Amino acid sequence: MSVGVVIVAAGSGSRLGASVPKAFVLVGGRPLLEYAVRAALSARPAAVVVAAPASHVDEALDLVEPLSREHGIPVQVVPGGAERGDSVLAGVRWLPEACDVVLVHDAARAFTPSEVFERVAAAVTEAVPAVVPVLPVVDTVKVVDAEGFVVSTPDRAALRIVQTPQGFRRDVLLAAHAAHGSLATDDAGLVELLGLRVGTVPGDPAAYKITSPADLAHAERLVDHRG
Ligand code: C5P
Repeated sequence: MSVGVVIVAAGSGSRLGASVPKAFVLVGGRPLLEYAVRAALSARPAAVVVAAPASHVDEALDLVEPLSREHGIPVQVVPGGAERGDSVLAGVRWLPEACDVVLVHDAARAFTPSEVFERVAAAVTEAVPAVVPVLPVVDTVKVVDAEGFVVSTPDRAALRIVQTPQGFRRDVLLAAHAAHGSLATDDAGLVELLGLRVGTVPGDPAAYKITSPADLAHAERLVDHRG
């Protein structure tokens, strides 16, 4: 099994209100993308590819080249697309053919421990071609209608919060994107639509998605704490 990692970093991050794309926002003086790439490299994949905003490809290359040298693992940067799915495909197309397992990771989950990458990759098999890291749901969740009235209360014990990296057999990931495009909010959702099995492994609270200014403040505290 040869693992390739696609880090999608081409979003604008408008909800963060920053003047640069989210992956280039500084935390502890370093861009979020650097933390994400370092975590992926620590899991020792065969290759890493970053889908960056077209405007920031050169900046991303300057960032990843020293990390690639430091770890002795190829790291490439490609321009991402208009939708997240386009960015995923742009990345997968660059990965060496030999990478039969692909991990797709959001740069916005910059503080994901490398163990999560390892757990996900190890759980992808012929029979379980897609694997997602999950956390239990601690709050009660309601389904509401368009007016905000409660429709139902799903059984919390059966619910999970889903993170990235999500792991796939490469052929299955490509087939899922070809068949269903952007019909789901995550890549595993596309595999579900193919009717294939999606497995779960434990995620990590540190793999939270940096979306709001409060999430960014939390990230600063995390980095401070790590020293
Ligand atoms: O927009 P959202 O928060 O769902 O984005 C999740 C991840 O997908 C982010 O890391 C973002 O950079 C990436 N993305 C991308 N290309 C897009 C849109 C989002 O790489 N066109």
